[in-house]
Amino acid sequence: MSISIKFSSKSAADTAVVFIHTGNKLSPAAQDLDKKSGGLLKRALESAPKFTGKAGNALTLALPEKTGFQRVICLGLGDLKDTAMPEAEKLGGNLFPVLESADIQKAVILADDVNSEFLAHLAAGLKLRSYKFDRYKSKKKDAPKPLSEITIVTPAHKQAAGLFTDLNHTLKSVFIARDLVNMPPNDLYPAWYADFIKKELTPLGVSVEILDEKKMKTLGMGAILAVGMGSSRKPRMVIMRWNGASKKSKGGPVALVGKGVTFDTGGISLKPGEAMDEMKMDMGGSAAVVGAIRALALRKSKADVVGIVGLAENMPSDEAYRPGDILTSYAGKTIEVLNTDAEGRLVLADCLGYLQDKYKPRVIVDLATLTGAIMVALGHEYAGTFATTDDLWKKLEGAGTAASEKIWRMPLDETWLKDVESDVADVRNTSKSGRLGGSCSAAAFLQNFVEDGIPWAHIDIAGTAWIKKDRPTVPRFGTGFGVRLLERFVAENYE
Ligand code: BES
Ligand code: MN
Ligand code: ZN
Repeated sequence: MSISIKFSSKSAADTAVVFIHTGNKLSPAAQDLDKKSGGLLKRALESAPKFTGKAGNALTLALPEKTGFQRVICLGLGDLKDTAMPEAEKLGGNLFPVLESADIQKAVILADDVNSEFLAHLAAGLKLRSYKFDRYKSKKKDAPKPLSEITIVTPAHKQAAGLFTDLNHTLKSVFIARDLVNMPPNDLYPAWYADFIKKELTPLGVSVEILDEKKMKTLGMGAILAVGMGSSRKPRMVIMRWNGASKKSKGGPVALVGKGVTFDTGGISLKPGEAMDEMKMDMGGSAAVVGAIRALALRKSKADVVGIVGLAENMPSDEAYRPGDILTSYAGKTIEVLNTDAEGRLVLADCLGYLQDKYKPRVIVDLATLTGAIMVALGHEYAGTFATTDDLWKKLEGAGTAASEKIWRMPLDETWLKDVESDVADVRNTSKSGRLGGSCSAAAFLQNFVEDGIPWAHIDIAGTAWIKKDRPTVPRFGTGFGVRLLERFVAENYE
């Protein structure tokens, strides 16, 4: 269960949070508590040299009973006020663990000198950080009750609540995407996942179509089917349609495509054993697409959007596809398989082919945990983004900034198109240059399946969909990366 965040004109709780600005300037609510406690706040701040009111500084103090609170958390705001929304979110993200470690169930934030937009984003940061994935832990009867309610007290509470409701639709969808990424691959496999998407989105007015193995065979989807051949749990393709525009929008729907490999062992080109469990996150692109469509539907987006995800499990077995196989994709292009671990691009090739044939989209954005190489280039901070037009890149970059999800532009080039030409088929699934530029050759492979004239971008989220264990401050969990980016991308450009 995640925490509930409320906005109100007044509220009671054991613990209060007050804002302190640069140079230890107290907010009106902080001044009030200082007065009621006989100057306790000012004295405490003076004797704490590390606390300067810088954004993110936090100091917890016990308060005398007459103040009405047991304790106060002084939260540094620095010079932030009213403008910087990503910073407001970050601040909320930093505040959450402070509140959590205070061992309380309810807190109030006395916010009388910042505007409602800032507060809505602060609340979003709190909420995002409160996410937990504990559904697989058995319940302990005498477990202490966790922090469950935060009330933000502000004169502009109605406005702030309205703004937060909009953000919260997306946050709930981020949580669903995180849940999907975190779910173990024995429970989350293509058929289950496809049914989940249908159950989750149909009630919101999204039409969901599931293509099963039989249907995909008759349609000639030789690439995604090959990836799933080694597993007894067969592939699915799921198409989600949200028709939010009043008239048929010019140029067809906005298309969002996601890689949904529910577990990637590498297949016959087996991966090394270490950390292979992490390959349950190889459906992170599809989770972002499902989450984004859900967020758009929840707030009745005025755009026409089609989401398409390719779901398959990449396993080695006597029925698995092999290096050397030549596949025929939906679009008719033949693919020479040189490494069965380069499976994501095969899944996406059939998604792209079917999408363009059936829906004639005006623009395509795909998200995929496609290459380890993107982590070598950009680590866990930025998702690598390849775009065929500057205009599409700018739209995505703007959306990334608005969503606090960072992307970095990567190159598309003739060289890599040549690198994925095959001697015996139309394309090959690995580069002739080996591992060098691995993310770029993967993008070039996909480019072969995009028709001329349709703006297309590919976002490689292998580094951002999952936070690694080598960062001790954050758990090794799915991030839901892409949900907010795609939601903003559609909202800001196509509604
Ligand atoms: N799913 C992996 C990419 C990946 C690696 C995602 C690490 C997240 C963390 C993808 O299917 C893969 O195996 N790519 C290969 C491609 C290579 C065989 C050309 C890779 O990156 O090594
Ligand atoms: Mn792989
Ligand atoms: Zn993969």
